[in-house]
Amino acid sequence: MGLAMAEKLLQKGNALLCISRHANPDLALVAQKVGVPLTQWTQDLTDSEGASARLHEWLHHQNPADFASASLINNAGVIPPIAPLRQSKPADLAFALRVGVEAPMALSAAFLGATQNWPIARKVLNISSGLGRYAMASQAAYCAAKAGMDHFTRCMALDEALHANGARVCSLAPGVIDTDMQVQMRGAVGDAFPDQSKFLQLKAQGQLSSPAQAATQVLGYLARPDFGDKPVADVRD
Ligand SMILES: NC(=O)c1ccc[n+]([C@@H]2O[C@H](COP(=O)([O-])OP(=O)(O)OC[C@H]3O[C@@H](n4cnc5c(N)ncnc54)[C@H](OP(=O)(O)O)[C@@H]3O)[C@@H](O)[C@H]2O)c1
Repeated sequence: MGLAMAEKLLQKGNALLCISRHANPDLALVAQKVGVPLTQWTQDLTDSEGASARLHEWLHHQNPADFASASLINNAGVIPPIAPLRQSKPADLAFALRVGVEAPMALSAAFLGATQNWPIARKVLNISSGLGRYAMASQAAYCAAKAGMDHFTRCMALDEALHANGARVCSLAPGVIDTDMQVQMRGAVGDAFPDQSKFLQLKAQGQLSSPAQAATQVLGYLARPDFGDKPVADVRD
């Protein structure tokens, strides 16, 4: 979905900084063709300190007068090998928590800190999940990361509300999307994942949105005038 959002944001008037483990040459070609400034960083988000320091430094060198608004979207997320916690490896749990909650929190801190005096609208959109709100067996790390994301977003909303031009922030569940993450859910070893049949059923019944549809919905939500009124929301609201 991250790629689908980047593709949709490649529109005249926007400038994009995309952070991912691998640069995408096709995206760079499209950006060049449509004349949209695109910067791609290859960055593993398990290094949240490195990523946030880099973002802070980059923002520090931008001129806010060049922008009408600025938004940070935290999209990356990881489901570690699907298994009950008692069978999970600490390294897999740490990986999911670093990417899923530590990096978004550190990047949000860098963004809010570096842009605090920018006299323009600023937004933070965290891509959460229904599983941050509903517990599921064999999903402890993913559920914990998304619940953590929801809750730090609530705190961040309170922080920002104390300032005249505070950022609008939201932790948004994007619906069920036909990506590698769903392939992982359907491919889990059955008896290690009691809820697997739900995911098989959703796919069989054609209830998944495509990454492009989900990107449109999520970016539509980001553009809503009431974005941030609810710090925790669902794109289907
Ligand atoms: N699919 C669903 O049904 C669903 C439902 C609810 C919420 N979500 C959320 O939606 C977001 C997008 O998920 P998706 O469905 O597009 O899943 P996905 O296909 O598995 O993509 C996961 C994304 O996270 C990035 N990522 C993973 N580890 C990373 C790391 N160490 N450093 C940097 N980037 C890393 C991946 O980048 P690489 O390209 O480098 O792998 C990829 O862009 C996630 O936050 C997910 O939790 C998805």
